[in-house]
Amino acid sequence: MSTTIAVAGKGGSGKTTLASLIIRFLHRQQGPILAVDADPNSNLGISLGLQAKRTIGQVQGEFLEEKLDIPPGLSKQAWLELKLHEVVEESEGIDLIVMGRPDGPGCYCSINVLLRDYLENLSGNYEWTVVDNEAGMEHLSRRTTQKIDILLMVAEPSLKGLRTAARLKALVEELKLSIGHQFLVVNRSSNDLPPPLKAEVEKVGLDFLGTIPQDEAIVQYDLEEKPLLSLPDTSAAAIAIKEMMGNILKPNKM
Ligand SMILES: Nc1ncnc2c1ncn2[C@@H]1O[C@H](COP(=O)(O)OP(=O)(O)OP(=O)(O)O)[C@@H](O)[C@H]1O
Ligand SMILES: [Mg+2]
Repeated sequence: MSTTIAVAGKGGSGKTTLASLIIRFLHRQQGPILAVDADPNSNLGISLGLQAKRTIGQVQGEFLEEKLDIPPGLSKQAWLELKLHEVVEESEGIDLIVMGRPDGPGCYCSINVLLRDYLENLSGNYEWTVVDNEAGMEHLSRRTTQKIDILLMVAEPSLKGLRTAARLKALVEELKLSIGHQFLVVNRSSNDLPPPLKAEVEKVGLDFLGTIPQDEAIVQYDLEEKPLLSLPDTSAAAIAIKEMMGNILKPNKM
């Protein structure tokens, strides 16, 4: 069965970086991965060195247009599935889908249901589904995301950052999403958090999974637009992710 890991957090906290590093780890150690870019300002593909030709949002827009060019004998639903299939960008061991934003006005309620079913079926083909979310919880609240086994809340190493993580956690609770286990990850920080931050971590009320250090290799890759998939195993952030994933994958955590 497929395991879904989703990443959430404040803008710029490191969601896409964390999602990419997890995909990098799983790609090296485990089975096929479906990478889902659920940020309308899509950039997970850049981090992975993959480029989707179309987005789910574009297909949604077309679906709602009056002048749908559906061949005779094909139902609207079958047409949609065909089109959605074209959105999957396939590569070695990792496929990418980009949610994008729906084109044009209209009510997306009915299509969201179809979309959720489609995504649920699709992720069944992969051992892992990794979802990079936008800073707001829009996408999660539209519930186009299927069940989440593991939600990682990323925070900056500051009181403000941790308090935002706590607010997002409350929001997630309000949405009553089906989430197996939630963890807190502090990005750009050494393991040795100053006492006020340690106290704040406690207050967030999520299992603390660990920290990702500020990594100059990531800065360099970003500047050179190099995919994080090729980050060497010696990178400090890659080492931290390996340890975190080891903890997540412990049988009692899943
Ligand atoms: N541990 C790290 N070490 C060095 N640079 C990092 C680290 N984490 C993130 N960055 C850099 O910080 C910037 C923001 O990170 P990222 O894009 O992952 O954040 P985000 O939460 O996805 O942002 P957004 O809300 O805009 O989607 C990027 O340029 C990224 O390369
Ligand atoms: Mg991002």
